[in-house]
Amino acid sequence: MKRIAIISDIHGNIEALNAVLKHIKDQKCDQIFCTGDLVGYGPRPNEVIETIRSLRIPTIMGNYDEAVGFLLPACGCYNSDANAKKYAANSLKWSITHTTQKNREFLRGLPEQLEIEVGDKKMLLIHATSDSISEYVYENDTERLMDLLDYVSQDIYVYGHTHFPYSVTLPGRNKTIINAGSVGRPKNGDARATYIVLGVEDGSVSGVIHKVSYDVAKVIKEIEESGLDNYFAEFLKNGGAHVKDCKCSGEDTTYSISPKCT
Ligand SMILES: [Fe+2]
Repeated sequence: MKRIAIISDIHGNIEALNAVLKHIKDQKCDQIFCTGDLVGYGPRPNEVIETIRSLRIPTIMGNYDEAVGFLLPACGCYNSDANAKKYAANSLKWSITHTTQKNREFLRGLPEQLEIEVGDKKMLLIHATSDSISEYVYENDTERLMDLLDYVSQDIYVYGHTHFPYSVTLPGRNKTIINAGSVGRPKNGDARATYIVLGVEDGSVSGVIHKVSYDVAKVIKEIEESGLDNYFAEFLKNGGAHVKDCKCSGEDTTYSISPKCT
């Protein structure tokens, strides 16, 4: 069986990334792919970029990678109020200042999307959507998901950006959509890092959303001492506590893609 790990939205959290990479090693994966957002919010953008680069993990450009790489004035993230805008400005300015020139160059060179073949399936990897690097599309946005699939020729659409992991095969469509969640800044009410392992054998694809514990307290302390707003430390404590009712907050979730996706 060929096993593919999909990681996403690491956001400068090297502790979470290292824990996930160790977990992936135990899963005996053949290859790792990343759907972007290496930086932003977290205190170790350089270490994350250098780890991804040294391991040659194929990675898509996320909206935060674009903003830091090209020194943009905003990251394209959704900010609900004035406080959120203040936090966003703090994070972007800090991340630009604390990412080396060489690493910003690496971010600028990341591709917008990637097509890979897994067994007899074709998979599209993208950060958000082909219309926008910062569009938020959630599991229950069925109409928008249907609309997106009209323009996707591949069998499996894999993205990140929302930080909510899920997989769905929409009725009447022989295509599956997967969101890899977030390694370094989950929003699903669970502090653990999430990522996905896909298994491919004899034309059938199955997947597991994994949750991985790591030293969150260490990252919180680093954030508090970094000059990043303490809001980002609070956020990590319980995986975006404002989300109370996420079905992904339990244990690892196994799902089958085939035979629906054929
Ligand atoms: Fe992100």
